[in-house]
Amino acid sequence: MNSINISGKELFPIGLGSFGFGEEILKEKGITDQDQIESMKYALNKGINYAVGYMTYANGNAVKLLAQAIKEFPDTYLTFCAYPGKSQTVEDAIENFFEFLEIMGRKEVDTFMVSSTMEGRLGREGLIQLIEYIFEKRYAKTLGLNNFNLEQLNYFHSIFKDKIVLHEICHNFEIRVYEELGIIQRGKELGIQHIIYQGLRRNRTALRNWPILVELSQKYGATQNQIILNWLYDLGHLTLVKAGQINHIDENINSLSFSLSQEDIKLINDSAPLWDLPLLNWQNFDSERDDGLYVAKLSNVFDDLYPATSLN
Ligand SMILES: NC(=O)c1ccc[n+]([C@@H]2O[C@H](COP(=O)([O-])OP(=O)(O)OC[C@H]3O[C@@H](n4cnc5c(N)ncnc54)[C@H](OP(=O)(O)O)[C@@H]3O)[C@@H](O)[C@H]2O)c1
Repeated sequence: MNSINISGKELFPIGLGSFGFGEEILKEKGITDQDQIESMKYALNKGINYAVGYMTYANGNAVKLLAQAIKEFPDTYLTFCAYPGKSQTVEDAIENFFEFLEIMGRKEVDTFMVSSTMEGRLGREGLIQLIEYIFEKRYAKTLGLNNFNLEQLNYFHSIFKDKIVLHEICHNFEIRVYEELGIIQRGKELGIQHIIYQGLRRNRTALRNWPILVELSQKYGATQNQIILNWLYDLGHLTLVKAGQINHIDENINSLSFSLSQEDIKLINDSAPLWDLPLLNWQNFDSERDDGLYVAKLSNVFDDLYPATSLN
């Protein structure tokens, strides 16, 4: 297994997802904060060394747990995701980042990542001002993008060039919009590493039992989720997975212990389910359907838009 290199750091091809950690409902289920911290530490001990923090998850609780987990792993590559949340101005966004640094006990991050929705909130000039401030004050040396469309990618690249090292996007068995729109290809041409979120679509892809995934899982003696993670790895992506359960962490890490043949990779590449892409919105998380669906919601609404019986 080859590691993934970002800015000279060798990274395990699976990263630490954090959506869902710190939620109140877990306490009601008897899962304590300490249990969640231990899960993250288990994953870090197994070699996972890429993490990203979003202050909006569980009202900041996910970041607090992440901070506890990674303090014993100071070499973890840390990305901060600037997401609008309650921030209305550039100053608010900077304040939000400072809060993150304080919780994490760090003076800087490896990558300062900006969501496409930040442009919706701050405008293009405001977002550029925010990024320039971060670089000027040396809070990060590199820039990450999150859910950028092709126009945004090209525009921001024309300004920040090689400082852009990663792009966090959704790419999975059903949702291949970033590939269809040429965003993945363009990112590769620009030398940008893709970080995948919802590669497993929160286990919902496996539950659909797509024939090719079932067939390959039998052929390789692996789970469908392992086939998906292995495929994403073969495509050169680093996939963020959130897993609180130890058996899930082990299963995901072990997904890299075998190799899919190139013919089978091609079969998955060629097996994208056919469905009509709804109108997309790239800048407003809360946009109404008439203004397009925010692109990051695609993976969550897919099963409602296309129930199993309509496509299988
Ligand atoms: N930038 C964005 O717009 C954006 C959007 C969504 C997510 N993200 C990031 O990407 C990360 C990953 O996405 P996600 O958490 O939404 O979805 P995900 O990683 O595809 O799925 C997480 C869910 O799948 C379960 N799971 C994990 N491994 C499994 C396995 N081997 N078999 C069965 N179930 C398994 C987990 O259960 P347990 O926890 O019970 O183990 C959890 O409920 C997030 O945590 C977040 O950091 C970014």
